[in-house]
Formats: sequence, structure tokens, C-alpha cells
Amino acid sequence: MMKIKLFSIAMILILLSACAKESKPSTASQKHNDISSELKVIMHELNMVIYDRYDSELDKDNTRRRGAMKLGTSVKDISIQIQKIQIHKDLKKQDPVLFKKYAKELYNRGDTIYNQAYNYELDKLDNSYKNIQKTCKTCHKEFRKKKK
Ligand code: HEC
Repeated sequence: MMKIKLFSIAMILILLSACAKESKPSTASQKHNDISSELKVIMHELNMVIYDRYDSELDKDNTRRRGAMKLGTSVKDISIQIQKIQIHKDLKKQDPVLFKKYAKELYNRGDTIYNQAYNYELDKLDNSYKNIQKTCKTCHKEFRKKKK
């Protein structure tokens, strides 16, 4: 009795998984959308990291220092994700090598701000923060299409 029950549950599961596969077409455009939305999700994360966590006006040095360290760590993590992303066909430029170069530059700038914060070089943080934003802008200028 028990065996039959288990068997039918197994059958249902197999059938369900077959259906799930069928209802998910992996056409080229589907794939393209995935890559595009993946990049967008990462970019939103990056945006939050950049604009929420670093406050140059904060006069509490320790808070600033820890904020900059967190920011550096997150920027590095996200840069690694960006380096793995395949650029999609709607971008302004189709140059994966250049794209990766900017992603690596972002990583290095994240590393710089982290190390400066770690070493209490707080007077350097604002400049490094601006350099991170420069990298965002440079890559956007090359790869992002203008909003219609
Ligand atoms: C290696 C290149 C590169 C770097 C570096 C980069 N971006 Fe982007 N970003 C892109 C591309 C390409 C798009 C357009 C994505 C699309 O339309 O699919 C984009 C889009 C965005 C968007 C809009 C997402 C949307 O929903 O359309 C935001 C916000 C953003 N980036 C923030 C940032 C911030 C903040 C930084 C710097 C900390 C940064 N980006 C660094 C390549 C980059």
C-alpha cells in the first residue's frame, strides 16, 4: 500500500518537472532578457551601495571609516559579479574586453577605498569615493544607451 502511494507521488513529481521544463522556453530573446535584467538587478544593488552607505558629511570618523570599508567590500563583490556578466546586444557597444576592464577598475577602486579606510587614511576617502563614481560614469558612457 505504502509503496503504491510513494510510486504515485514520484510519478506526479516527474510529470510536474516535465511540465515546468516545457513552460520555460530558452529562446534567444528569453536569454537576452535574463542577461539584461541580471545586469539591471546588479546595477540597482550597486546604486544602493554607492548612494546609501557612504556619507561624507558624517563627522563621526569611525562611522565614516566603517561605512567606507563596507562600501569597498560591496563594490568589490559586485564588480566580480559584473565581470562574469555577458554583455547583451542592446548595449551601445559590443566590447566584452573593455566592459571587463571597467568592471576590474571598479574592483580596484573598491579595494583602494577599503584599504584607506582600514588604514585610517580618512582624508583620502572622499576622493576615492568620487573616483568610484567616475568609473560608473565612464562605463555608462560607453555601454549604456541613452534613455529614449
Ligand atoms: C562595467 C561597466 C559598468 C560599470 C563599472 C557600472 N555600470 Fe551601471 N550600468 C552598466 C550598463 C551596461 C547598464 C545598462 C544596463 C541595461 O540597460 O541592461 C548600467 C545601468 C545602470 C543603472 C540603471 C539600471 C536600470 O534599471 O536600467 C544604474 C542605477 C547603474 N548602472 C548604477 C551604477 C553605479 C552606481 C555604478 C558605479 C558604482 C555603476 N553602475 C557602474 C554598466 C556599468
